[in-house]
Amino acid sequence: MRGYQLASGGSGVYQAEEARISQGAVESNHLGFNGTGFVNYDNITGSYAEWTVESSAAAGAVLALRYANGTTANRPMDISVNGTVVSAGRPFNPTADWDTWATSSLAVALKSGTNTIRATAATADGGPNVDQITIS
Ligand code: GCU
Ligand code: CA
Ligand code: CA
Repeated sequence: MRGYQLASGGSGVYQAEEARISQGAVESNHLGFNGTGFVNYDNITGSYAEWTVESSAAAGAVLALRYANGTTANRPMDISVNGTVVSAGRPFNPTADWDTWATSSLAVALKSGTNTIRATAATADGGPNVDQITIS
């Protein structure tokens, strides 16, 4: 049993199309996304989506990122929380096609107050298409 509890204000689903996007576009031209679309990262190093997550207490959480990668190559991203990379070059491997989505989950630590979670393309291929993150 966990010794702490995620503040209810932080848990939930955060759509990529509502994130702060640098060098990417909101699109909906593939199937299977949630919400109103997904982010198509520009195919360059450094393109990112960033979410703001409010937590009423410092707490551990699970970050689940839903993505599609219709290529045959990994599209690694750096995942950062509050400016610190917590998963460098995290793999986002092929999902068969751009209509097929997978989820990659990792443990993160949130602070009390406003948190920023950023997923940044680590190679010149850019990131995968990103649908949403879930914090639980
Ligand atoms: C295709 C696909 C895009 C994707 C892109 C890519 O153009 O339609 O959704 O982002 O490939 O290779 O990144
Ligand atoms: Ca792209
Ligand atoms: Ca979405």
